[in-house]
Amino acid sequence: MHPAFRAAVGGMVTASVWLALSGGVCGQPPGLDAREKADAARKKAREDARIALGRALFVREWVPDDRRTHGGDGLGPVFNDRSCLGCHHQGPTGGGGGSAATNIELITAVPAGAVASGSNGFYYAFSFNYGPDGFEYHIGEPPGLNANANANRGRRDARRHAGAAAPNVAELVRIHPGFRDAPSVVLHRYGNDADYRSWREWVLGDHGAIAIRTSQRNPTPLYGLGQVDAIPDEAIEAEARRRHPGWPQVNGRVARLADGRVGRFGWKGQTANLRDFVLSAAAVELGLEVPGHAQAGDPRIPPIRAKGLDLDQDECDALTAFVRSLPAPTAARPDGQRTTVARKLGRSLFRSTGCAACHVEKLGEVEGLYSDLLLHAMSPDLSDTSSYKAFQAAEPPAPAPARVVPAGARGGRANRPPALEEWRTPPLWGLRDSAPYLHDGRAATIDEAIRLHGGEASASAQRYRQLTDRERSLLQGFLLSLAAPDVPDLR
Ligand code: HEC
Ligand code: HEC
Repeated sequence: MHPAFRAAVGGMVTASVWLALSGGVCGQPPGLDAREKADAARKKAREDARIALGRALFVREWVPDDRRTHGGDGLGPVFNDRSCLGCHHQGPTGGGGGSAATNIELITAVPAGAVASGSNGFYYAFSFNYGPDGFEYHIGEPPGLNANANANRGRRDARRHAGAAAPNVAELVRIHPGFRDAPSVVLHRYGNDADYRSWREWVLGDHGAIAIRTSQRNPTPLYGLGQVDAIPDEAIEAEARRRHPGWPQVNGRVARLADGRVGRFGWKGQTANLRDFVLSAAAVELGLEVPGHAQAGDPRIPPIRAKGLDLDQDECDALTAFVRSLPAPTAARPDGQRTTVARKLGRSLFRSTGCAACHVEKLGEVEGLYSDLLLHAMSPDLSDTSSYKAFQAAEPPAPAPARVVPAGARGGRANRPPALEEWRTPPLWGLRDSAPYLHDGRAATIDEAIRLHGGEASASAQRYRQLTDRERSLLQGFLLSLAAPDVPDLR
């Protein structure tokens, strides 16, 4: 094509788009600026349509054998709720769950009749090794607060208990096949099959030498997660190197995944990016087959591949785009001079009480997050299983080979999975609208949540207890000004 002709065709196309957008009232050929505007408008329209589709998928109530899939089987075979909105609706769409009824339930196998030590009892830790020595695992006491000492003790216990004292893997797998891959597995609330309910009750019962312990996870609000996703890894790593004058026990570490990536989502910082979390939520919570994530499987039958996809790539992109589009929480507007002053005082108490050492106000470019996204060792009372998985309807892919830990990450602690007492600092933005609090929602109020802080946070919690009633209420007043964003309620 002759260059001049090509330019003319290009001009005609642009002109017609531009005329369409401007209502066709102007006879002048558009300049570069108008063309850019038209491109931007088209791009925005596409993005808006994508978010609208994502919103529809977020609120969609799935049914078994749903006809809206791509050859998939819809909801289930096992699931925890029928829609994302079912657990993320508080304050309003995209928030937390608002009550224990939306918590997800995990099970862990422990030796029956073990003498409880601390509130957590004995725990069972599992390391799977398919080498010539077969499985290796150990039973030990709940770790105290010194993570390094625990790692050493864990290794000693592993040597002591490898083989003989450990429960038989076959027995564990007979209770739940998910125990083959992880120490704790998601016990789904519902199954499409009518007998699932009674099977579930059987799992929760006694099994000879093995007892099943249950624990819970509280749904986190999803506001502002697009911004959290965009925080550079380096900002989180820098936060882990920072020391806190006056609060020497605060010693957070990066939640590094087995493959070396920086974890930032989930109560244990177990997931590296938003897309991964959204897709695995679809697979685990709703039992949807999505690209790269096999749907949760019925544990009573051997893994079988799903018939087809429940959500295709475009729909997964749309669902992620919708979650990414949820605005960040905001500070509620003070209703007068007195509130403004009280809030300032509360905020400075937040700093002077040591809260801001972990609940960092600004991380990367994100203002008002109140989190360092690092793992901190909390009190033994808050200890709970380190990692969990869902049994999948297909064999999980082989784990990725471990990557070299980047320079700057701290020695032996760097790649360890979170210890039982380690939790990622939850962002406090939106706090007013996200009760109940803590990883299992055990704290009904902010005051209760703070009083349960221990371990690295014990000096700070101690300082909080020593405040006067008036100071405590100023501090709480400040925290209660952190509100969910104003988004439409889609329920
Ligand atoms: C049965 C309740 C339930 C349903 C349904 C559910 N979630 Fe969640 N969601 C949770 C819980 C519990 C957590 C915290 C899990 C953890 O960290 O261990 C969570 C965490 C998340 C997070 C991570 C938030 C953060 O800040 O770390 C994202 C993202 C998320 N959910 C998205 C979704 C999407 C998208 C859907 C629908 C496909 C969905 N969830 C359905 C209970 C649910
Ligand atoms: C050593 C780090 C650290 C310090 C210091 C700290 N926190 Fe926390 N905070 C955490 C972690 C980790 C959790 C989550 C624990 C869990 O869920 O078991 C948490 C949870 C919370 C929660 C519940 C949030 C939610 O969404 O459930 C509130 C509220 C809170 N902290 C407020 C405070 C206040 C106020 C202070 C100061 C008095 C403080 N924290 C000091 C690390 C810290």
